[in-house]
Amino acid sequence: MKGETSHRLFWNGGVKREKKRDKNWEKRIHTDLVWLEIEPFLQPGLKVLDAGGGYGRYSIPLAERGCQVTHLDLSPRMIEEAKKLAGDRGVSSIEFQVGKVQDLSSFSDRYFDLTISLDAPVSYAYPEQKRALEELGRVTKDKLIVSVVNRWGQVPVAVETELRFRNSLEISRRFFREGNWDHPSFWENLEEKIPLLYRYIFPPLHAFTPSEILDDLIEEGFRPLRVVASGTLARLLPPRTLKKIVNNPSLYKEFLEFSREYDALFEVLGVGAKVASGLLVVGERRNSNEEMV
Ligand SMILES: C[S@@+](CC[C@H](N)C(=O)[O-])C[C@H]1O[C@@H](n2cnc3c(N)ncnc32)[C@H](O)[C@@H]1O
Repeated sequence: MKGETSHRLFWNGGVKREKKRDKNWEKRIHTDLVWLEIEPFLQPGLKVLDAGGGYGRYSIPLAERGCQVTHLDLSPRMIEEAKKLAGDRGVSSIEFQVGKVQDLSSFSDRYFDLTISLDAPVSYAYPEQKRALEELGRVTKDKLIVSVVNRWGQVPVAVETELRFRNSLEISRRFFREGNWDHPSFWENLEEKIPLLYRYIFPPLHAFTPSEILDDLIEEGFRPLRVVASGTLARLLPPRTLKKIVNNPSLYKEFLEFSREYDALFEVLGVGAKVASGLLVVGERRNSNEEMV
């Protein structure tokens, strides 16, 4: 039960869980912060790829705003749900495709004006996360927005998860050293050992450090415009404070602006949200005659 099968099982079983995400304050704030990263680049008619688009959280509103959207996802169940939601909302400028972010061979080079891959599809492409970034870069003409699992910020989650199932820190320490949430002794025959567990714990993934994702972005020919550990300030506040903020529209607006500044501080880039992907980069394609930095 390793690799691709466990990924598809986890995400096929995760449609309901994903759709409930905005009931959690921290997740809701994270979503709104991500929108603030996308919005400056939007204009009607833009050709957009949402790679690993899930149930359509971003792709459907983007199509509603006049973008020509292609929505790709590994999970047929997620695609089914997104198609249904788009249909219910009368959205037609969106095409769906079941596929993998690490294989975008059905799209030509620089086909999309804007490519987004949010809430960690690139991390879940593990062990092909580098290939996924290459493919995203290849099909993008102008702007690329990618969010991945933040390695340092997820170490506590790794420890908490591992200790739920075993009395060892072996997998967490390997995750800390290499960024890979994967261990043969844990994953092998997991389904037989603990039936249905695959629905509740994360499938194998690669978590990035801030410098790693920046280096990869630059290597793919993009100039980083922004790197942000989205959701850090919110993660560090108790639920009752978050509730108070979200329920007061002007306070909420100010808090989002404050978070965008705080979460982009060099010193906090290694933290990020606990409940969603905590590391986001925005890149702009460099001209071929521009020098590499
Ligand atoms: C946390 S959800 C995020 C969905 C959406 N981007 C959003 O932000 O709402 C991660 C999504 O990535 C998809 N996914 C996981 N691995 C993938 C891969 N290798 N290629 C394409 N999609 C993948 C999953 O099926 C799931 O829909």
